[in-house]
Amino acid sequence: MSHIDHWKSVLSGPVPEKDIGAIEVIAEMGRDVIPNGPQIPKPGCTSYITTAATDMGSIATLAGIVASPQRVGITAFNHLEGLSLTWLAEMFGLPSGMQGIFSSGGSTANLIGLGAARQWVFQQIGIDAAADGVQRACKVYATQQSHHTIHRSVAVLGMGRNAVVHIEVDDNMRMLPDALRKQLQADRALDALPVAIVANAGSTNTGSIDPLQTIGEIAREYNIWFHIDGAYGLPGTLDSKKHDLYQGIALADSITVDAHKWLGAAVGIGATFVRDHASLRNTFTQGDADYLKNSTAAEEEIENSMDSVGFAYHDLGVELSAPTRGAIVWALIREIGVEGMKARICRHNEMARRVADQAKQHPHLELALEPTLSICCFRYVHEKADDLNALNKQIHRQLMKHGVNIPSTTMVGDKFVIRPCFLGARTDWHHADDLVNEVIDIGNKIMSNDS
Ligand SMILES: Cc1ncc(COP(=O)(O)O)c(C=O)c1O
Repeated sequence: MSHIDHWKSVLSGPVPEKDIGAIEVIAEMGRDVIPNGPQIPKPGCTSYITTAATDMGSIATLAGIVASPQRVGITAFNHLEGLSLTWLAEMFGLPSGMQGIFSSGGSTANLIGLGAARQWVFQQIGIDAAADGVQRACKVYATQQSHHTIHRSVAVLGMGRNAVVHIEVDDNMRMLPDALRKQLQADRALDALPVAIVANAGSTNTGSIDPLQTIGEIAREYNIWFHIDGAYGLPGTLDSKKHDLYQGIALADSITVDAHKWLGAAVGIGATFVRDHASLRNTFTQGDADYLKNSTAAEEEIENSMDSVGFAYHDLGVELSAPTRGAIVWALIREIGVEGMKARICRHNEMARRVADQAKQHPHLELALEPTLSICCFRYVHEKADDLNALNKQIHRQLMKHGVNIPSTTMVGDKFVIRPCFLGARTDWHHADDLVNEVIDIGNKIMSNDS
């Protein structure tokens, strides 16, 4: 029986009639569940764009779960929701006065931003899309590098995923403004509402950042909502070497960032910031539920946490019940300050640069793309290899098997490449070198066995 079949069978069975008690459940958790989790918490894991929470991220999550199972109320937790959103906006230089809202992650954060966009655009033609639905064909402009949750958001919002138009990218995977302009011009002839232009501030595949300033100006010129997906890459603006790439953020109508990526929170925290408060509220307000009507006492009577829902974040997103998230973000920033965040982000960007430099120098490595942020796309090459894609797949399989340096892969054009994304707070300088050395070792061994 394979190892996986073994733990699956141990963790299967009918619903138990008899109790085993907390101590035994905890023992099973330690023996059968936790060791069979993903490799993500390992510091050498540079897969996807997910990481393990820092110690503070874990402690603050536990504190939130125990002390504040909901974000509502006149509580320190409800208050910190607002404070930490303000801190994020300040830290990343967002336009002043944007309304922030936490949600479960980048998927929902994009849905919220694009929901506000849909509301705003339909409002311009006298339609309340939240109340009456989408009554016209729509267009949303993005690139093929956009995260697939953009397409799903557009679908969920009733516009249909085919409303997403892919604008051509340059060799660095950045949206081509001229191609965007051309498409907008051509689409004027259609009876379709242009709802939003979506730019990446750190794409998932390669970390590319679209030319935000130019795209933002085009959005203004055509009176189209400008949404920036910064789920992964927005914190990159803290790196002074990258800061200029973020010019144009000032033009954003909505922008997202995930605390559970570069900031070190446990999975479950994304944020959306929206310029037009009314569109956000009109999209998501839930109206009055009878059982919530009594929840706010007259202001002079408010004495304890349950006398009011506090700031009603549930009117600005898709969740009513939601865990408290602000206190976690507050704790993460409080612990290491902006300086600590900066140091982590600069280190990770430099690590990607270091891999790139090694890939350029080593005779058996090839850099597929200059890194923009903390992702580096490279591959092993050998003059005797017939199929470099197959070879790099084989190398990646072996990396997975060894389970120490664990990058993911992607395609850059038609090249299958190794794609480390340096992001975890525990991922340190040597992990970059360790990965490169292991790729070279595995590649060399495969080639010497083949010859
Ligand atoms: C750029 C970008 N946007 C959105 C998402 C979706 O975020 P989540 O997985 O937190 O829902 C991701 C996930 O990796 C991402 O990289």
